[in-house]
Amino acid sequence: MGPRPLSFVLLLVSYAVASSSSVAIPTTSASAVSSSTPVASNSSSTGATSSISSANISTSGVATSVSTTSLMTSYLATETGPLTLPISHYSFSPFPTPTLAPDPPNFPATDPLDPPPVSADPVVVPDFAPAWAAAYTKAMSMISNFTIQQKANITTGVGWGNGLCVGNIAAVGDFPGLCLQDSPLGVRDTDFVTSFPAGITTASTWNRALMRARGFAMGQEHRMKGVNVALGPMMNMGRIAQGGRNWEGFGADPFLSGEAAYETILGLQAGGVQATAKHYINNEQEWKRTQESSNVDDRTQHEIYAHPFMRSVMAGVSSVMCSYNLVNDTYACNNNKTLNDIMKREFGFQGFIQSDWAATMDTLGAVAGLDLTMPGDITMGSGTTYFGQNLTDFVLNDTISIQRLDDMATRIIAAWYFLHQDEGYPNTTVSSFDLYNPLNQEVNAQSDHYLIVREIGAAGTVLLKNEGALPLCKPKNIVLVGSDAAPPTSGPNEYTDQGGDPSGILAMGWGSGTDNFTYLVSPYEAIQARARVDQTSVFWDFDDWDLAAAGNSVIGMEAAIVFVNSDSGEGYITVDGNAGDRQNLSAWHQGDQLILAVAAQNNNTIVVTNSVGPLIIEPWVDHPNVTAIVWANLGGNEAGNAIADILYGAWNPSGKLPYTIAKSPADYPAQLVTGGTAADILSINYTEGLFIDYRWFDAQNITPRYEFGFGLSYTTFEYSNLAITKIYHEDYAQTDLVHNWEDGGATPIAEGSTTALWLHMPAHKITFDVTNTGALYGGEVPQLYIHHSPSAGEPPSVLKGFTNVVVSPGQTTSASITLSRYDLSVWDVVRQGWAKPEGTMTFSVGASSRDFRLNGTIPA
Ligand code: BGC
Repeated sequence: MGPRPLSFVLLLVSYAVASSSSVAIPTTSASAVSSSTPVASNSSSTGATSSISSANISTSGVATSVSTTSLMTSYLATETGPLTLPISHYSFSPFPTPTLAPDPPNFPATDPLDPPPVSADPVVVPDFAPAWAAAYTKAMSMISNFTIQQKANITTGVGWGNGLCVGNIAAVGDFPGLCLQDSPLGVRDTDFVTSFPAGITTASTWNRALMRARGFAMGQEHRMKGVNVALGPMMNMGRIAQGGRNWEGFGADPFLSGEAAYETILGLQAGGVQATAKHYINNEQEWKRTQESSNVDDRTQHEIYAHPFMRSVMAGVSSVMCSYNLVNDTYACNNNKTLNDIMKREFGFQGFIQSDWAATMDTLGAVAGLDLTMPGDITMGSGTTYFGQNLTDFVLNDTISIQRLDDMATRIIAAWYFLHQDEGYPNTTVSSFDLYNPLNQEVNAQSDHYLIVREIGAAGTVLLKNEGALPLCKPKNIVLVGSDAAPPTSGPNEYTDQGGDPSGILAMGWGSGTDNFTYLVSPYEAIQARARVDQTSVFWDFDDWDLAAAGNSVIGMEAAIVFVNSDSGEGYITVDGNAGDRQNLSAWHQGDQLILAVAAQNNNTIVVTNSVGPLIIEPWVDHPNVTAIVWANLGGNEAGNAIADILYGAWNPSGKLPYTIAKSPADYPAQLVTGGTAADILSINYTEGLFIDYRWFDAQNITPRYEFGFGLSYTTFEYSNLAITKIYHEDYAQTDLVHNWEDGGATPIAEGSTTALWLHMPAHKITFDVTNTGALYGGEVPQLYIHHSPSAGEPPSVLKGFTNVVVSPGQTTSASITLSRYDLSVWDVVRQGWAKPEGTMTFSVGASSRDFRLNGTIPA
């Protein structure tokens, strides 16, 4: 968790007692930093420093307080003055249960511990409704004897720092309470755990089996450490390339992100832990994340930002975390539209919505759909809460109905039963606020998960350029240049929450989305090990700043491998002037100059990047001596081994870019919004609408440097024999809805309308062949893009499917991608439903968003 500016919390009218002005700083990593000390500054020759931000802590802009019982409106200070928001009168229907009956084999009743097997072309839609219903029955029975106070306690974390985990619910009656713990890439704040590749690396694999395997392994580790609720995956959309936390998520396309979220959640929950889909919604930048309103139109919200959360609900996700920001001028954790209407009504979400840490805005957030306040206190460590006694009082004086409180408590307890955590769940053995607590060391959760880390590290590496330089074949001598090739100088956990300028390989970003490395393999170590086998002479120069020395070191070498990186993270830590978000899209430590200095002296310069997101690589990409570019993302604790696997061809590259690499920052459709006084709430208007990332480049005819979906292999593939068949399910109960949709009708306004089976079951099957026309065994990721007729108002190409094939040289394999009616629909704002747009729909299958090999038409 990042502490947040106190000013933000005080901007809202509050009936709560005055908050303490202290801002707690977690002190949970192996680094010797005390809780009151900013993260150690890391002086490099640029003077780069890191610090925990306190710049925004101010009490200015405080609104007047009013009495608790008369509070029926919330007041926000905005750039244009106070806004008065009406309290929602949404009539809440507790305990929703979608009405669909299981329909095997397409729609089997599914227990989250036993999801359908992973498939490269998923056609099974798991039905979690019976498992939820059973869990609800148990939960309702459990709370039937609880007092109002006890029920309110279920919905209220115990307060920051008051438990073993970053979030804790205390035991109530027979309910033992819950431990909620980060992160999306492993178990945070403990030891003997695996540091998995980041979300962005996982997305770059475009491989559902690997996404599932990673989720499952992470789920097992959380379970072994006694974590009940894992605070991941994170699925913000990378709307801006600079977004500090983009690396935690799955890239800049909703379909890819949705599939990654879906598989990750199925895996996590199969491992036994409850998953959390976060941050809901539109938390796309770190700067003023608690004081910005993301203003998003309804269609864009549905088609782009909400989609991965919809897929999360389809994966049976147990929890959703609402975000810090405002959405259309209402705080996300107070937002009736996004919480009650989209998440609970349209998606039929049956788990619980928890706040991001101290993102609860008032007690009435409960009416807007918030079920659990985390970590419980109003500001971190304040000891005050909007729920707890305040919620009890609101129920007692009829401001909030008892049915709503019952629903909140039931959802939280039901999610625990849903995952069978009532059946001998391990004790909690993390200790977030005292890493050296021996409790931490009782459980070694790592198993053989390093194998998955290494495989995803390689499969999530994208080969962008290769002019015969790779794979390396027993080179006589090589030189490694750049600190990113090296182990960090003071161990793998140099900074609290990795929040500092990395002195070695960058294998994850910074913030709460991290864990502590148990160990970290750098490229230097991995390549040395390989050199022993190949009897290669290895040289290195890890100084990024002495360009002359770097240039001299590569003269006469068979290959010079230059390693550069670029880091970002969560906004409560500032590193070298980057307050979470990146200030620019250039490689750190003058990486561009380092590459040019090397390329000036060696005509076989291979560039390896470890970056949180896109970089502008124009200064060197076309340099004739730059013979290969290996885009290695963030590899976790086996990062060096995975990079060596790619360099030496132990893994034939198959990764594809999950975002566009532009020629200029200005080519991207949206930019980081900065500025604003401590009291301001920034307005961030999503004026690009549906046109994020490649959708913008395509529509505006801007040539990117490397397009979304691009990635080379050491072999080549050809595509042929395209066919499409319509799939009929005449025996299916909801054929009336199918026919309505086929006639242009929209989905009904009803509970679970967006996740209904008829909308998601396979409707078309596209088949084609892929031939390996090169000399090496390898994998390819065929991608399917839909092109709507111009009247639909859609971008020229939208990703709606992908699969994976592995093919031997000279061989051909057949592949298939299925499309559902949902895949062919757009959100109709007027009718408030999904509908098939008018006009002919065509599609392409190919190797990237701009490399279409086969084209077809969707039958009417
Ligand atoms: C982050 C969440 C995280 C939570 C708990 C917040 O600051 O935004 O992603 O799960 O803290 O650490």
